[in-house]
Order: sequence, then C-alpha cells, then structure tokens
Amino acid sequence: MLIRQDNGFHHPVASDITPPQVYAQRRGFLQQLATTGLLATAGGAWGQSAVPRPGKLAALNSTVANFAGAQATDNITPYKNASTYNNFYEFGTDKADPAENAHTLKTRPWSVDIEGMVKKPGVLNLEDLLKLSPMEERIYRLRCVEGWSMVIPWVGYSLSELIKKVEPLGSAKFVEFVTLADPKTMPYVGSRVLSWPYIEGLRMDEAMHPLTLLTFGMYGEVLPNQNGAPVRVTVPWKYGFKSGKSIVKIRFTDKQPLTAWNKAAANEYGFYSNVNPNVDHPRWSQATERRIGEGGLFAKKIKTLMFNGYEPQVGQLYAGMDLAKNF
Ligand code: MTE
Repeated sequence: MLIRQDNGFHHPVASDITPPQVYAQRRGFLQQLATTGLLATAGGAWGQSAVPRPGKLAALNSTVANFAGAQATDNITPYKNASTYNNFYEFGTDKADPAENAHTLKTRPWSVDIEGMVKKPGVLNLEDLLKLSPMEERIYRLRCVEGWSMVIPWVGYSLSELIKKVEPLGSAKFVEFVTLADPKTMPYVGSRVLSWPYIEGLRMDEAMHPLTLLTFGMYGEVLPNQNGAPVRVTVPWKYGFKSGKSIVKIRFTDKQPLTAWNKAAANEYGFYSNVNPNVDHPRWSQATERRIGEGGLFAKKIKTLMFNGYEPQVGQLYAGMDLAKNF
C-alpha cells in the first residue's frame, strides 16, 4: 500500500546536509544495494545512477516513497541535527551523548534472533536481513514524546516482509523488540535510568502495517551508530521511543510486551504511545512540537497532528478504542 507522490517537499541542497565527499559515500551505500538488486526506487533511476546527483535533493522527490503524513511545509531535517541530537540512553541521557559515545558499538558481526510463536524461529545474520527485501527511501516525521520532531529520509523495507518470511503462528498477537544491552560497549547499560535491555513492542497489526519500517540507513547511508545501527524499527505514527534501536531479538508472543518506558513510568508511557495532540503527557502538553534544526529554542511551535499526520493510513487500526485510556 505504498503511496508514491511528488508532494512538493522542500529539500535542502546537499551541501546544507553534509560535505560532498561524505554525501558521495552515502550514495555509495545505496548504489551498492542497488547494484545487488536490494534497492527499489519508484523510478528506478536514482538507485542505478553511477554518480551521486549533484545539487538539490529535490531530484529525489519523484523516486522516494512518501506518505501523506509528510506535508509540503516539511523540510528535511539537516543530517547534522538528526545525527547529533539523539535519544539512545545506553550511551547517555544527554542529547549529545550518543553521537559522542556510540563509536564503541560494534555493528559487525550482527544477528537478530527470531523467537517465540513463529513457524520459522532462528538466527538471521545482518547480511541475510539486508538481502531479505528490496530497500526504499522513505521520508518520515519522527515526533518525540518530549515535544520535538524531525523529518528524516530513512532507508529500509517494511517490517511485514520479514514477519511474513518467518511465519508467525495464529496465536501470536504481539511482537517484542529486544535491543542490545552490552555493558562493555554501552556505558549507561547498568545505570538505573531504565531497566535493560531496552524493550519495545507492537501489536501484530501495527507491526504488519506497511508504514512500519525495518530500518538500515538514513540520508542514503548506513545508520550512524547513534541512530540505531545496524538495524532498528521506525514507527512514524508513534512517539519516537517506540522505535527501538540496535535490535538483537524479535519475539512473537500472545502477551502485550512489558516495554522499557512502560516499566519505568506506566502512567506516563502507555503501550500504544500513538502521537495524539489531544492526550497530554501527565507533565506537559502534546499539542505542539518544535522542529529540530529550524530556529533552535526560539523556533515557532507547530501543531502536532493526530497520529503524527498518518491518520489516513493508520487510524482504522484503532477504530472503537478509547485513545485516552489506551494512550
Ligand atoms: N532505542 C534504544 N535501544 N534506546 C533508547 O534510548 N530511545 C528512543 C528511540 N529508540 C531509545 C531507542 C527514543 S526516546 C527516541 S525519540 C528515538 O529512539 C530517537 O531516534 P533518533 O535518535 O534516531 O532520532
């Protein structure tokens, strides 16, 4: 159910994002995927071009898969902001900590265990995961529960592709994501800020929704460690904390997973955590947000949209549910 559209996105010029040689390397990553047949683009041309496109990233408009939740007024967040203003508590609680500390994360070799109520449990190594389905670039908004947001071009494929391959049993109702907790490389694992490993979860229909992206890259390159290398999920209609980073296990279960933030403060962080401007966090409003990279603390607040703007795609998943109770 991909909706591909040229929706008038304003893209910054490449030089706003990153130096040309780094940009070229990023494009190299995608070209590698393209030549191995792993990258699918709507027009095909971008992934196959031998040299990175010069100038405006606007050229991507016709080749990326976009979703209606991204609006014409959205600018892509500069790469610098998206890779230096992070939440990855395993590497520290300050926004700058992950970019400073996550170089210790060892992303190869890497594998993901498939466990629980599934016909084909087992260990998938990263190379198998990279090859499992063609990749796409998708521009998603990411709205953090703290009241800020970014617009990021992610690279990956729908998690549903993986789920279909491993064949969950009919009894499986939820998917649990367990992320790496390695005290040797992650200085804050062992701290009491959260219980480790960081665990997240989705209901099966949420996990199967085509918007839910198994993510390997952003801005055309492999994920920087601080953004959840080598593999994370991105669930664009939920607060950012639902998108677990550096995943090592995917477990299929009939019980709602006990997630890290729900364990830490159940009254503040529900299991669903759909972006909802009408349900305040107990300590602050969720009605507006600040776009990172656009005017700093003095940036004009913008209105937060129901389901982060993805209501047309995902609203029906919650038909009949009281979203104030199931926050
Ligand atoms: N995943 C792990 N393993 N540990 C974390 O602390 N933080 C979450 C989420 N995934 C987190 C995590 C939160 S609170 C947010 S807002 C997003 O990652 C941030 O993703 P980004 O840094 O790529 O923007």
